[in-house]
Amino acid sequence: MSTVYEAAFRVWRGDAAGGGLTDFAVEVHDGEVVLDVVHRIQATVANDLAVRWNCKAGKCGSCSAEVNGRPRLLCMTRMSVFSREETITITPLRAFPVIRDLVTDVSFNYAKAREVASFVPPPGVAAGAYRMRQEDVERSQEFRKCIECFLCQDTCHVVRDHEENKTAFAGPRFLMRVAELDMHPLDAAAETGVERSVTAQDDHGLGYCNITKCCTEVCPEHIRITDNALIPLKERAVDRKYDPLVWLGSRIRRRGA
Ligand code: SF4
Ligand code: SF4
Ligand code: FES
Repeated sequence: MSTVYEAAFRVWRGDAAGGGLTDFAVEVHDGEVVLDVVHRIQATVANDLAVRWNCKAGKCGSCSAEVNGRPRLLCMTRMSVFSREETITITPLRAFPVIRDLVTDVSFNYAKAREVASFVPPPGVAAGAYRMRQEDVERSQEFRKCIECFLCQDTCHVVRDHEENKTAFAGPRFLMRVAELDMHPLDAAAETGVERSVTAQDDHGLGYCNITKCCTEVCPEHIRITDNALIPLKERAVDRKYDPLVWLGSRIRRRGA
């Protein structure tokens, strides 16, 4: 089979005022990813097509868009996953406001990041003298693979079609951050009055999540967001809110560690 063929692309073009899909017939070479083809469209027939990208290696998280309705990284979506006859439709992330063409305003996510209280160093332990068990390090390591592409935030039905939920719901990426800090054996937020699993529920909208796992399915880093962060966080929120003995036990264990 030929290594060069022509593919049918439909790309959303427009801005905050509105827009629509534009058709392109574009050359595709063996081994290319969708971002290569978008760049060819830009280089040949639509020089002003706006697309955000940086690393082209799945690490910067900036080329997020929707390909045939599924949130994906354009640089990590191989053309070979589509049949040559298929029309490939590329649209901007649906949960965030469009700036232009494929570029969206993702500042919602930065606002939510700022709402999560930072790590609180343990009192009486000098910086550099922190010690953690390897299993605790490994648990949070999974969450720290996040490249902040916001595909999980885009796909979550709580905000995808419900702008009105954005005020109360932090989204999977930032609930995962709360979970990571809540699991951190050295985090002393509770001593300052911030019980993280309870604030997840009260301040970050954990109760909106009905564990559909759609966020996990689109994560390019294969982080098990729902199973390893959100469900354990929900369990701890219930334990700590309704069972004072569990809450007390967790405080005693922390002090004795
Ligand atoms: S599991 Fe929760 S956070 Fe993830 S997509 Fe479903 S509702 Fe959203
Ligand atoms: S958790 Fe996964 S999908 Fe969500 S922002 Fe991080 S890397 Fe992207
Ligand atoms: S360009 Fe960096 S993740 Fe795609």
